[in-house]
Amino acid sequence: MRLTRRYRFAASHRLNTDALTSDENARLYGKCNNPFGHGHDYILDVSVEGPVDASGQIVERQALDALVEQQVLSRVDHRNLNCDLAELKGQVPTTENLAFTIEAMLQRQWTLPARLARVRISETARNTFELETK
Ligand code: NI
Repeated sequence: MRLTRRYRFAASHRLNTDALTSDENARLYGKCNNPFGHGHDYILDVSVEGPVDASGQIVERQALDALVEQQVLSRVDHRNLNCDLAELKGQVPTTENLAFTIEAMLQRQWTLPARLARVRISETARNTFELETK
């Protein structure tokens, strides 16, 4: 059985790498390279997978919510992803990289009986990134 729980957070970022010139960055990242950054209202879907227990559930919703709040939302909501997250330092804060980072943040303190199965992040109405976890 799989449960997907949905969360939301707002954060800003700028896509830029020191490995490229400013012209190359502008070409590669387009509007997302604008010097002063921009924000997104991200939707984070966390999926867990496992057997249904005697209570008829995969996982206690409050326990999952508390873990996501402590490990992720409290650290990313209303933050600047270029400088406020140590885990993303030195990386371009694309939503692909953010998905890997959020998976690691969750796995670090994962104590739930069900397994973390997927992290999915919608950045805009047109872009959704899915990371299936091992
Ligand atoms: Ni963006």
